[in-house]
Amino acid sequence: MYTLRDTPMHIAIAMSLPEVMDAIGGAKISDLVDDDVTKISGWLPVAKVDELKPDSAISVYYGTQQVALFRTNGDIYALNNRCPHARGPLCDGQVSNDGKGPTVRCPWHEAYFSLASGEVIFGPSPRGVETFQVKVEDDTIYISRS
Ligand code: FES
Repeated sequence: MYTLRDTPMHIAIAMSLPEVMDAIGGAKISDLVDDDVTKISGWLPVAKVDELKPDSAISVYYGTQQVALFRTNGDIYALNNRCPHARGPLCDGQVSNDGKGPTVRCPWHEAYFSLASGEVIFGPSPRGVETFQVKVEDDTIYISRS
C-alpha cells in the first residue's frame, strides 16, 4: 500500500553558497567562501531597463553573486549587494546625492558607500564594496566585473 507518508519530499533552495553560509553561520562563516563560486566573468544581461524604476534599486545575480542595481539621476550603478560589515542588503539602503556623488546608506548599521567607486564614505564597514561596470544595450542592463 502506498500512502502520502511514503512520498519523498525534496526541497530546492535557490540560494548561492555564500547566502547559504549566511543563513547557517553568519558573516564570519560566509566570508570564507568566494563571492562568486562559479567564477563567471565578462558582460552578462541582468535586467531590463524598465525593471529598474528611476530612483530605485533592485537585486540581481551575476553568476551566484548578488548585485544591487541603483538608478539615480539617470545613471545606473552596480555594487555587490552584501555590505562588507555584516552583509546587510545594500539594495534596501537609502540613496542620497549630497555633493560627494551618489551614496547608499546600508540599512543595517548605516555605513555609507559611494555608488561610483564603492569606497566607504562613513560608518563601520572595514572596507569598500565591490563595484561592477554597467552598460545598457537594447533596453537591457549588462554588468561586468570592474
Ligand atoms: S551590515 Fe552594513 S553597516 Fe553593518
